[in-house]
Amino acid sequence: MTKLDQAAFWNGAGGRHWVNQQEAFDAVLAPVTEACLAAAAAQPGEQVIDIGCGCGGTSVALGRQVGASGRVLGIDISQPMLARAAELLPAGLPVAFVEADATDYAFPAGRFDLLFSRFGVMFFTEPVRAFANLRAALKPGGRLVFACFRRPQDNPFWMVPLTSAYAHVPRLPKLGPEDPGPFSFADPARVHRVLSEAGFAAIEMAAADFDLDLGGGAGVEAAVASVLELGPASQALDDQPAEIRAAVAASIREALAVHQRGPAVVLGCGIWLITALAP
Ligand SMILES: C[S@@+](CC[C@H](N)C(=O)[O-])C[C@H]1O[C@@H](n2cnc3c(N)ncnc32)[C@H](O)[C@@H]1O
Repeated sequence: MTKLDQAAFWNGAGGRHWVNQQEAFDAVLAPVTEACLAAAAAQPGEQVIDIGCGCGGTSVALGRQVGASGRVLGIDISQPMLARAAELLPAGLPVAFVEADATDYAFPAGRFDLLFSRFGVMFFTEPVRAFANLRAALKPGGRLVFACFRRPQDNPFWMVPLTSAYAHVPRLPKLGPEDPGPFSFADPARVHRVLSEAGFAAIEMAAADFDLDLGGGAGVEAAVASVLELGPASQALDDQPAEIRAAVAASIREALAVHQRGPAVVLGCGIWLITALAP
C-alpha cells in the first residue's frame, strides 16, 4: 500500500467504519486503552502527541491527565475521524487536532514529553522516517508509548470473523513484511530495527493479552455489527453485494456464538505495549 492508498482508505471506507463504530469500539477497547494510558503515565503539565488519534478518545483521556497546564496534539490523516474527534471534544480541554501525516508534519522540535498511540502507527508507509520525525519533536528523555497488535494468531477477535468471511469472499491480498497493516509491528526484530534507526533508545516490548467483549455487553448481534464494520473482516467485505454480506454475517454470528459467556462475547486480543526514549 502506498501513502496515497492509506490516505484514501482512512478517508474512505476505513474511516467511515471507525466513525460508525466509534462509541462501540471505544467501549470494546476500554481495557486496552487503560493499559496504554497506565504505561504512558501522562503527568499534569506534559505536552503530548497522540499519533493516529482517529476519533480522539485517547486524546481526550490524555487531555484530562495533563490538565490545563498541559497540551495534547492529536494528529491523523483521516478527515472524517478527526471531524468526529472535534465533535466529541469536551469544551475547555487542552486538546487540539491536526489533519496531517505524522511522517512529515513540522512538529515544533524538542517540545513534547510524550508520544502516545493506540493502534495508530502500524499504517506508516515509511515507518523509520515517521518515527524519526516524531522523535525530533520530543525533549531529550521524552517517552514513546504505543500499542500495536501481535501476530494474527494472537488476535482471535480479528481472525475469527475474518476466517468466517473467507468462506464467502476472496482472501485479502497477502501483505509483505515491510507493508503497512494491522500486524506490521508484530515482529519484535522489525520493531527494534525501525525504532533504533529512527533514533530511539531503551526500546522495550511487553506482551499484554486481553479478553475483549466484542458486543460491549449487548450480546452476539452487537458483536456481529461491530466486526462487520471494523478490522480485516470489514475490509474483506468492502464492495461485496448485500446477499454476500448477509451470508458472511450469518457465518460470523455462528462463529461468535461459540464465544458467548452470558451477555458477553469474549475473544482474545494480543498486543505489544512498546516503550522507548528519546536520547
Ligand atoms: C486503527 S486506527 C486507530 C485510531 C485511534 N488511535 C484509535 O485507537 O481509535 C489507525 C489510525 O491511524 C491513522 N493514520 C494512519 N497513517 C497515519 C499517518 N501516516 N499519520 C497520521 N495518522 C495516520 C488513521 O487515519 C487511523 O485514524
